[in-house]
Amino acid sequence: MNTLQVEAKHGRLEGQSAEVAALLLFEGETALKQEAAWFDKSLHGALVELLQSGEFEGKCGESLLMHSQGKVPAKRVLLLGLGKRASYRLDVLRQAMGHAAKRVRGAKVSSVLATLPAVLPKGANVVEAAQAMTEGAMLSSYQFKDYRTDDTAKQGADRLLLTLLVPDRGRLKQVMEGVRRGTATAEAACYTRDLCNHPSNVMTPSRIAEEAKAIAKETGVSLKILEKKDLEALGAGALLGVGRGSHEPPKLIVLEYKGPKTGKDSKPTVLVGKTVTFDTGGISLKPSENMEQMKADMTGGAEVLASVRAAARLKLPVHLVGVLPVAENMPGGGAMKPGDIVKTLSGKTVEVQNTDAEGRLILADALSYVTRMSPAAVIDIATLTGACVVALGQFAIGLFGTNEALKRRVEAAGHTSGERVWEMPLWDDYFEQLRSDVADMRNIGGRGGGMITAALFLSKFAEGYPWVHLDIASTDWSERERAYIPKGPTGIGTRLVLQYLIDHSL
Ligand code: BES
Ligand code: MN
Ligand code: ZN
Repeated sequence: MNTLQVEAKHGRLEGQSAEVAALLLFEGETALKQEAAWFDKSLHGALVELLQSGEFEGKCGESLLMHSQGKVPAKRVLLLGLGKRASYRLDVLRQAMGHAAKRVRGAKVSSVLATLPAVLPKGANVVEAAQAMTEGAMLSSYQFKDYRTDDTAKQGADRLLLTLLVPDRGRLKQVMEGVRRGTATAEAACYTRDLCNHPSNVMTPSRIAEEAKAIAKETGVSLKILEKKDLEALGAGALLGVGRGSHEPPKLIVLEYKGPKTGKDSKPTVLVGKTVTFDTGGISLKPSENMEQMKADMTGGAEVLASVRAAARLKLPVHLVGVLPVAENMPGGGAMKPGDIVKTLSGKTVEVQNTDAEGRLILADALSYVTRMSPAAVIDIATLTGACVVALGQFAIGLFGTNEALKRRVEAAGHTSGERVWEMPLWDDYFEQLRSDVADMRNIGGRGGGMITAALFLSKFAEGYPWVHLDIASTDWSERERAYIPKGPTGIGTRLVLQYLIDHSL
């Protein structure tokens, strides 16, 4: 749930009456300019005094709320730190507005005014800056209280309005577009968070299908759901194999959105998302510590659903297909056992030496399935490996791919969205680790380079189109609350994909 709304208006902060006027300030710059100078003067030098005393340094993440006691029409002034000018980037604006929304909410206020900064981060335009500010405020206002029956369900749910003031009328249109995009991308990320927050007894494969149906109904995108019997007819032995231990049958969900200006024979951009509604590990059972986090092993699929919904809501001029291989990885009586061999949709055989390496199995069949669509590009998103967490920690998404141009575009979208990627090698040398004595390959790569061997496994099925693989196991779940990221499911990856689509369609 999100309780913040953003709007854009022509105007200046100076002299505006408001509950809160927010000022963005760089660290270590006490010579105030423009609106900050006006506020300082009206407040009898209080801002410079705070800066010089070091009570407010302007560090990124810092905020200070003060009452103006009638010296300016705004009741309160909120100082927000942007950090040093040298490290100024779009995400600094996102983080500052994340802190702003939380600070203001804490003061039980319902509206806040801020100006689009006169100085934009290097390489960023007005639309992107307004989008980032919108995202920061909305993403930090996210709450998930669907299962709270006590008083905490009501706390802090009050609505908050952020108005972005645009002093230069010529920029108003761009700011409004930024707010439109930012609202859509933040709503998408919050939708992903919701889907991941629901427990696995609710967010089952059939519930995922219901979500896809609701999206198709709302936006008019076409929907195809391949059920177990369809997958059998198709020969998707890997996806079927993973689903075999569960009472919930596996599915392959396909959503197709054809935006304006897409030609009759346009090649689609295809998003594929790992959708394991719960990963127990199967017969290769996981340890119980932190196993509850495996309810979010469907993050990739959730991000694909959210991206298709947002692309349709934004009416992006793209031809977009979203594909979700869906299964629950359980150790039931029918479950796969180590050593079992499955025949994938591609015809290649795989020896399943570890049933916990299930993501690559369901993705293998999905990546083969999409070949029939002659995609312009395929991007898969998956909470694929624990090795990704080890290698990249909490801040970078693992990037792999077979097409330079596509990789660089995704990387650029990472910088704009603040959901940054880091490229890893996809060298064929690593394939020796995936050899099997009895089948074409095995599903684990043994010691060393676990994130790489998993990606390399996928590459054997992602043939015939430009392909990028994103391992989001590092970023999908946060151990602590950050400026605009909550503890728990983060939704990270959703805005990255949407930014890629925005950059290459609008
Ligand atoms: N879903 C997990 C990966 C994961 C781990 C995501 C931690 C998020 C946080 C995946 O299915 C898995 O279990 N991978 C195994 C692969 C191994 C058996 C080769 C892993 O990483 O341990
Ligand atoms: Mn697993
Ligand atoms: Zn998994």
